[in-house]
Amino acid sequence: MDQYDDTPKWLYNEFQYAGVNYENAEIARQFERRHNSFRNFELEFQKIRERVGLRPTDVALDIGCGSGAFVIPAAKFCQKVYGADVSKSMLDLLQEKIESQGLKNVELFNEGFLSYRHKREPVDVVVSSIALHHIPDFWKAVALKKIADVLKPNGKLYLLDVFFNFPISNWQSGTQTVLDAMSKAAGREANVHISSEFSTFDWIIEGFFERVGLNIEQIFDDATFLRAYVCKKVKQEIVNSQTILTGKEARNLDAKAVEIGKIPSLLLMENAGRSLADVFMANATRLNHDKKPKRALICCGKGNNGGDGFVLARRLSLLGVECHVIAFGAPDDYSGDALTNLEILKALTRRNPEKLIFLNSSPVLYDRLASELSWCDWIVDGLLGTGTIGALKSPYDQVVPILNASGKPIFSIDVPSGLNADDGTTSSDVIRATLTVSLATNKVGLTTENAKEYVGELHIGDIGIPIEPFLKYDSPKTC
Ligand SMILES: C[S@@+](CC[C@H](N)C(=O)[O-])C[C@H]1O[C@@H](n2cnc3c(N)ncnc32)[C@H](O)[C@@H]1O
Repeated sequence: MDQYDDTPKWLYNEFQYAGVNYENAEIARQFERRHNSFRNFELEFQKIRERVGLRPTDVALDIGCGSGAFVIPAAKFCQKVYGADVSKSMLDLLQEKIESQGLKNVELFNEGFLSYRHKREPVDVVVSSIALHHIPDFWKAVALKKIADVLKPNGKLYLLDVFFNFPISNWQSGTQTVLDAMSKAAGREANVHISSEFSTFDWIIEGFFERVGLNIEQIFDDATFLRAYVCKKVKQEIVNSQTILTGKEARNLDAKAVEIGKIPSLLLMENAGRSLADVFMANATRLNHDKKPKRALICCGKGNNGGDGFVLARRLSLLGVECHVIAFGAPDDYSGDALTNLEILKALTRRNPEKLIFLNSSPVLYDRLASELSWCDWIVDGLLGTGTIGALKSPYDQVVPILNASGKPIFSIDVPSGLNADDGTTSSDVIRATLTVSLATNKVGLTTENAKEYVGELHIGDIGIPIEPFLKYDSPKTC
């Protein structure tokens, strides 16, 4: 199996442990005949096509492709299909079919989940059916990381396999139920599957997805024992990420998108909140010692940065993160889109007043802030945006050092509060972020040497403004 010189000697030997001895040509043929008798490959393909949203222009990769249950129908539909399997006999069988059907757009590799090296462009879709259970859990995580690397941003994984979803305390009865159902479909193969292979719990595989950057989009329980996951690779790069604007230019871009591009500003704020939540969920666990985020304290100033924080609170709550919001102003300090989102948040939290706190008077402020800081596991900094230049004013001159001293990771919206987004200079304390999401485009001030210690890991958040059309205008026309 040592196909590449740099393959570590300790890599799991997936060629040796490929389950039923698919290496034997006769057994491969028997597999084909048996599965043909209880499966309908064409219907299975149609199901995958619909679930994944497969398009004729797509390039797909099937790992553990066997004798081509997916590869053959997919080759008739997609632009290009790659198949990989550790069993040479299975691939030989598949190659015969490819040739007899005159399919020219398939490439096969005698490689497995762990040994597969993708030598082409990233693919749109990876499919894997009833194969991942052949490797133990640690190696499943490695396999999923490799799959995520092969996918284009926004690419999809369709993973069908046996996953257990019974409580661990019921392991005996749960396993028996799965075995009974599986035996009806697959006969004696079912016993081998349970006793000698590595099917795992749903919560284990779901933890792996999250850690490798695959978001679960849909789950299909096709039988007591068969589950299909459709996952999407978290988008990492947007076109705008190459553009770097000053804070002032970024604000102009927003204004042009609204005035010339007719994108309602409230929609831009909603997009910002969504994008912030997506980047946060994709990175927070990794950036906080593998601890999944559970409680976020969202600190909001009086402007649009605070408004983005209000939307973020709503989005994160939907994604299972409990949020407390501190508004550093009185309710009537807010206006425009920030006020609209504050009103939404007020309505949503009216039965849980502890979730939305207005803090503007000193003694209460610091006691309450201290207790909220010990409650949360992440702080969100939505205090000040790109418009704030110069030294911090009250109460932020007091609040920023307290947030920094809390020892909790900080997620900054658009720019760490106190940092000049135009040039990266500082005039007083600045939030020291673990993660910053610069909205719409990158900002000059986030890229300077001085800014590095404040910005943490920098991501660009897509808010739905294609910048090209707007950079050409000097200023919005008014009549
Ligand atoms: C039950 S068959 C499924 C084949 C095909 N996906 C289907 O739906 O008919 C399992 C396949 O996984 C392959 N396999 C086992 N271990 C593998 C590994 N580590 N990497 C890739 N394929 C593997 C086997 O050789 C076999 O072809």
